[in-house]
Amino acid sequence: MVFPEVMMHRDAIIYVAGHAGLIGSAVVRRLERDGYRTPITRQRSEVDLRDARQVSEFFEEVHPKYVILAAGRVGGIMENQTCPADFMDENMAIQLNVLMAARRAGVQRLILFGSSCMYPRECSQPMAEHALLSGKPEPTSLPYAISKLAGTYLCLAYNKQDHATRFIPVIPNSAYGPHDNFDPKSAHVLSALMARFHQAKVSGAESVALWGSGSPRREFIHADDIADACVHLLSQDELAVELPLNIGVGQDVSIKELAEMIARVVGYRGELEWDRTKPDGAPRKLLDSTRIQSLGWKPHIGLAEGLAETYRWYVRQVETATGPMPEVRR
Ligand SMILES: NC(=O)c1ccc[n+]([C@@H]2O[C@H](COP(=O)([O-])OP(=O)(O)OC[C@H]3O[C@@H](n4cnc5c(N)ncnc54)[C@H](OP(=O)(O)O)[C@@H]3O)[C@@H](O)[C@H]2O)c1
Repeated sequence: MVFPEVMMHRDAIIYVAGHAGLIGSAVVRRLERDGYRTPITRQRSEVDLRDARQVSEFFEEVHPKYVILAAGRVGGIMENQTCPADFMDENMAIQLNVLMAARRAGVQRLILFGSSCMYPRECSQPMAEHALLSGKPEPTSLPYAISKLAGTYLCLAYNKQDHATRFIPVIPNSAYGPHDNFDPKSAHVLSALMARFHQAKVSGAESVALWGSGSPRREFIHADDIADACVHLLSQDELAVELPLNIGVGQDVSIKELAEMIARVVGYRGELEWDRTKPDGAPRKLLDSTRIQSLGWKPHIGLAEGLAETYRWYVRQVETATGPMPEVRR
C-alpha cells in the first residue's frame, strides 16, 4: 500500500477523537507512520465527548491545531431501529461540543465524518454532494442521518461565518478494516459476514443463512484509504469548503459478490443460502467521488487485498481472546 507524499505540519498538535475506533485508529496509524508528532488521544473515561464541560476544558488545556473527529455512535440497521434516540442525541452532542470547543480554541482545520445515509433514499446514482437535502433519507436510519447532517452543515456554517475556520465534513462510504466492529448484534454487513463465515468454518456448518436476495450493491472503502484522504485534505492550502466531500472508491459490488469474496478469504466452503423473504434495503449506494479526486486523491487498497488483511487482523483478535483456532472441520 503506497501512499503519495503530502504535507501537513509534522510538529503540529493533532487531536484524534475516537482513536480506538475503525477510522480513528487508521488515522493514528497513518500519522505515526508518516512521522507526525504523536497525536493527542483520550479515552472516553478521560473525556466523555457528550459532556460539554469536559470537552471545553480539554480543548483549553491542549489547544490542538488540527482535529479529526472520528468519535460517534455507530451501528447497523438493527441498533439504529432499537436505539434511534441514542444515535441522534449522542452524535449531535459529540459534534456540537467538539465543534464549539474547537471554534473557541481557534482550531482552523477539522475533519468531521458524515455518512452516506445522509443522502436521499431515492438519490440518483452515483450520489453527488449537491444531492444532499434534495429528498428524505432512508427512514430506518433517519435519526442518525439527521444528526450527521446537523454536524455537516454546522461545519459549513462556521466556515461561512468565520472565514478563518476550515472545518471539512467528509462522507466516506461503508468503511472496513482492522478495529472494525465484529459483534453480530451491532456490526455492519462486511464485518458481520466475516465473523459469521469464520464461525461457520470453525464449527463446520454446512450452510450459512443470509438476509435478502444479495442483489443490492454497496461501496466499501478501507479505513486506511479514508485516513489517507483526511491527511490529504488537511494538507490542502487552498481548499474552499462550501460542501462536504465524498470519499469513495468509485466501484461497488453486490452483497452476493461481497459474501462470496469474504467466504473465499475466510476459507469457508459451505453453502450461502439467501432468504429472499427478508428485506433488501436500498438497491444501490455508490458515491460520486469526482470532487475529492479532482483534488489529487485516489484510493489505493483493492477490496480483495483489504478483506484479506482485515481477516488476518480479525483472526489475531479471536486467537488472542480464545487461543489458537481449533482445527477446521470442513
Ligand atoms: N464505519 C463506517 O462505515 C462509517 C462510514 C461513514 C462514516 N462513519 C463515521 O465515522 C466516524 C467513525 O466511525 P467508526 O466506524 O470508526 O466508529 P467506531 O469504530 O465505532 O469508533 C467510534 C469511536 O468513538 C468513540 N466514542 C464514541 N462515543 C464517545 C464519547 N461519548 N466520548 C468519547 N469517545 C467516544 C468510541 O470510543 P469507545 O471505544 O469508548 O466506545 C470509539 O473509539 C463516525 O462519526 C461515523 O458516523 C463511519
